[in-house]
Amino acid sequence: MGGSALFETYNRAPLRFERGEGVWLYTESGERYLDFAAGVAVNSLGHSHPHLVETLKTQAEKLWHVSNLYEVPGQTRLAERLTDATFADKVFFANSGAEALECSIKTARRYHYARGQPERYRIITFEGAFHGRTLATIAAGGQPKYLEGFGPKVQGFDQVPFGDLEALEKAITDETAAILVEPVQGEGGIRPIEADMLGRLRALCDQHGLLLIYDEVQCGIGRTGKLFAYQWSGMAPDIMAIAKGIGGGFPLAACLASEEATSGMVPGVHGTTFGGNPLAMAVGNAVLDVVLEEGFLDEVKRKSLLLKQSLASVVDEFPEVFESVRGSGLMLGLKCRMPNGEVNLAFRRHNFLAVPAGDNVVRLLPPLNVTDKEIRIAVEAIREAASDLALPARKAGSAA
Ligand SMILES: Cc1ncc(COP(=O)(O)O)c(C=O)c1O
Repeated sequence: MGGSALFETYNRAPLRFERGEGVWLYTESGERYLDFAAGVAVNSLGHSHPHLVETLKTQAEKLWHVSNLYEVPGQTRLAERLTDATFADKVFFANSGAEALECSIKTARRYHYARGQPERYRIITFEGAFHGRTLATIAAGGQPKYLEGFGPKVQGFDQVPFGDLEALEKAITDETAAILVEPVQGEGGIRPIEADMLGRLRALCDQHGLLLIYDEVQCGIGRTGKLFAYQWSGMAPDIMAIAKGIGGGFPLAACLASEEATSGMVPGVHGTTFGGNPLAMAVGNAVLDVVLEEGFLDEVKRKSLLLKQSLASVVDEFPEVFESVRGSGLMLGLKCRMPNGEVNLAFRRHNFLAVPAGDNVVRLLPPLNVTDKEIRIAVEAIREAASDLALPARKAGSAA
């Protein structure tokens, strides 16, 4: 038995934060950390953003919850803003990324069912994907470490190697309903799908009557410098799952879809108790107030360049620690030569928080409103941590 009353499912760092302000987190003992993990891309506007705090407080004094038995004006407003800004015509609100994915998967299956082809339910995904921890989304992600011990894998997911178009074409059968991809794999190690590849996926879907589903749970809401990552390529999906950044720290997610793709989602076939609740809607709208402000995303792009260029020079300086820097916007990854867990730990010793990912990468996902000064402090912390890691190897090298 562990010493805590909590499930032992997390390997937690021994840090207890009491409050946050912007990009900074403060521990109970008053020590401060620069937060480039941002709740794994959740705190899109940092901690305690005044507009979000004020909005949440105001809503909390008016109405918390009414259920989806009634109209919720905040839902209509947020849905209209999301559809105005994207390919989508319709929105279903949920509470977590996995739920938004579940809704996306169900929407795709119901689309074919409603067209008289219930046998078309299979969904093709890419290796390295992460779509959540429900039984269906671990099957979609296909990673053995998340599937092991949970009984038979949910039926209907076919996985192909990352970016392998030939394998993907071969995997399409009469039972295929959709292709599901993250335009930029997050947990998989900041691996973007190139624009022309998205174009080819779109063409394959059109050719075979499949639906294209994007998972922008991590890479959406301004992370890459556009509101959604797919907008760099202009290749619109039929369905898209979003979460994380849209709530800025409040649990909020959504499934966006074209009107046609929602044709099977008729009254009664799907639902949620908490999804779209007035508190979440108020915060989601407040996040969009800031992210959609003129010039905000241009600033994300500008700061991305500053961060990426500075990181490239640290990578050059410490080739024994890092191999490369990759990603776009404020969704960057340091591909490591040393084990990424060790690198992340060294960052933490310099009061700098980042997040390990697959492919031996450490992710940097700062709040989108991070300042130039904070970027410089971050790069300095990374440089100092890399120097600590490189020193023993360099000493050994010069002694030999
Ligand atoms: C791309 C992607 N999809 C889905 C999820 C699952 O989201 P949640 O943990 O909110 O269920 C995540 C979470 O990290 C994610 O990064």
